[in-house]
Amino acid sequence: MRKPDIFDEIIQCLKTDGRIGADTSMNEETLRDLYARPVRKAPARVPAPAQNAQGVPPAYAPDLPEWESLRTECASCMKCGLGKTRTNMVFADGSPHAELMFIGEGPGADEDATGVPFVGRAGELLSRMIAAMTFDRKTETCIANIVKCRPPGNRNPADDEAAACMPYLKRQIELVNPKVIVLLGAVPLLYLFNLKGIMRLRGRWLDYNGIPVMPTYHPAFLLRNPPAKKDAWADLQAVMAVFGRKPAPRR
Ligand code: URA
Repeated sequence: MRKPDIFDEIIQCLKTDGRIGADTSMNEETLRDLYARPVRKAPARVPAPAQNAQGVPPAYAPDLPEWESLRTECASCMKCGLGKTRTNMVFADGSPHAELMFIGEGPGADEDATGVPFVGRAGELLSRMIAAMTFDRKTETCIANIVKCRPPGNRNPADDEAAACMPYLKRQIELVNPKVIVLLGAVPLLYLFNLKGIMRLRGRWLDYNGIPVMPTYHPAFLLRNPPAKKDAWADLQAVMAVFGRKPAPRR
C-alpha cells in the first residue's frame, strides 16, 4: 500500500469537513488530480498601463487582443436596460493571465464611477482577503462580475440583465482559463450554476467546464456578518491548497 501524501491529507480533511460529498459536482478523483497538477507559471510582469481619458485603467492585458476587443464590445453594449443608466461599464480587474478568478455580482456606485470592480468597502475587504491568500490582486487574480453595468440602487441583477451579460463573462472565463474560480455570494452561484443556497453550498467544490469552483460568501455579506469571515477564510484556504500556498505567518 502506498504511503499517504499531502494530497491524501487535504482530501481527508475536506471529507471530514463535508466539503466533498454526494451533492457536489467535484469528486475525489478530480480533486486529487487538481491538487497534483503543476501550477502554471505566471507570465513575466508587464508594467501597468496608463489610465484612459476618463481616468479608467484599461484591463491589464497588453498582450491579449481578444481580451481588449471583448472589452471594447462590452463598453458599447446596450443589450439590457443597465446600458442606459451606467456611467462606466465595469469589465474586469487584474490580469487575464491569472490562475485565480473571482466572480462577484455586479458593480456598485464606486465601481460605476471608476470602471473598476470591487473598489468600494467590499472591494477593500476582497483585496485584503486576496492578500491574505498570498496573491497579488493586480497580477495574479482576475476579478469580474455577473453583470458589467450597475443595477440602480445596488439591487441584484435581474434575470434578463444577467442573461444578456453572461455570454461576455463566459468568454472572459474561456480567455482567462483559470486554474480555480471563486464565486462571491449567491448571485454568481445562481447564474453560473442555477443553484440557490450559498449558506449550504459555500465551501463545496463545483465544476465549471472542468474548472474547479469554490463558492464562498460575498465580502459585503462579511462586512455585515463578521463571524462568517471564519468560514470564508476556510474556503479560501482550500483554494490556497490547490496552489500549494500557505497563509503568511502573522507578525
Ligand atoms: N460587489 C460586487 O459584487 N461587485 C463589484 O464589483 C463590487 C461590489
